[in-house]
Amino acid sequence: MKTSPGVMTVSDSRSPEAQRGVVVRDVTPDLFDDLISVCSKTQLKDPVHAEGVQIKREWLTEVTRANGPIAKLAYLDGKPAAQLMFYPEDAGPQAPGRRDVLVLYCVFTGAPEDRRHGLASSLLRSFLEEVRAGKLKSVAGRRVRFIRAPVFETGEGLSMAELYGRYGFSRGPEGSFEMYREVQGTYEPPSSLKAGSTSPKAVPPTGDRRWRLLPVGRALVFYTPHCQWSYVFAERMAAVIREMSPKHEVLLVDAWRDPAAGDWPGAQAVVDGIPIYAHVAEGDGFQSEVAAVLKEGPR
Ligand SMILES: CC(C)(COP(=O)(O)OP(=O)(O)OC[C@H]1O[C@@H](n2cnc3c(N)ncnc32)[C@H](O)[C@@H]1OP(=O)(O)O)[C@@H](O)C(=O)NCCC(=O)NCCS
Repeated sequence: MKTSPGVMTVSDSRSPEAQRGVVVRDVTPDLFDDLISVCSKTQLKDPVHAEGVQIKREWLTEVTRANGPIAKLAYLDGKPAAQLMFYPEDAGPQAPGRRDVLVLYCVFTGAPEDRRHGLASSLLRSFLEEVRAGKLKSVAGRRVRFIRAPVFETGEGLSMAELYGRYGFSRGPEGSFEMYREVQGTYEPPSSLKAGSTSPKAVPPTGDRRWRLLPVGRALVFYTPHCQWSYVFAERMAAVIREMSPKHEVLLVDAWRDPAAGDWPGAQAVVDGIPIYAHVAEGDGFQSEVAAVLKEGPR
């Protein structure tokens, strides 16, 4: 573990986690390698994965410089083993135009053998305590109305939804793929979701001009720079589309910076203006949705 002056050790020396060798640190730039190592092991040799890591490193540098630390690391016996990432919602250029909302982006304990040692609990407790006490550096001096936490399934360990549920988070509206925890204000669901909508597929409604922005023959594939795996999956989606329709022009879109992603909330990709929602790593749902668009043509 690298030393980092001024980084706070949160675990109380008498706590069960401290006794098991768990230390929580705020992630300053000198700890970016440790942060990346929690989610990437041997994959770093793969050039696509390495590209995803580079994108994440640039994003971390930019957002940390502007906001202060946006991640916490838990070390187990000196080894970086678990991470928690967050940021003020309005830190992003495409933020929905509201203030005082904190995004808890993900919590992950990398190796199966490191799970169930209290790492995620230590991270979440540290994060929630600092939010409650107004001490989180990246929102210092500002109130936090609520925390929203996107949830997605990786099929590893305990699901994010189950973990967040244990720490007082409630589920957002069906189809929003997020949970929330109120702090000093009341939760507001994502503005793009209309009341009563059961799936992001219902938004935007048929006929909305945004459905027509993308010409036939073009596909967009979205990734977030927060996660190296997101870029890897985006490249995989692009390869699938190119293989199914070599004539399509496929563009990878950075969902943090590019407004296009906001036009199709929850979509992994868009083909001929039609959003594709299935994740490429989950069965053949992605291929089936793309095949349906290619067969039926744009609506
Ligand atoms: C959820 C996760 C972070 C938990 O990490 P962890 O370090 O093992 O968590 P902890 O040991 O601190 O346990 C946290 C709580 O969950 C419980 N828990 C952990 N794993 C569990 C399991 N497999 N089954 C049931 N309960 C479990 C613990 O008992 C503990 O409960 P408590 O707070 O009531 O005492 C880990 O399983 C994981 O990484 N899962 C994948 C999450 C994911 O997909 N993240 C996004 C990746 S990009």
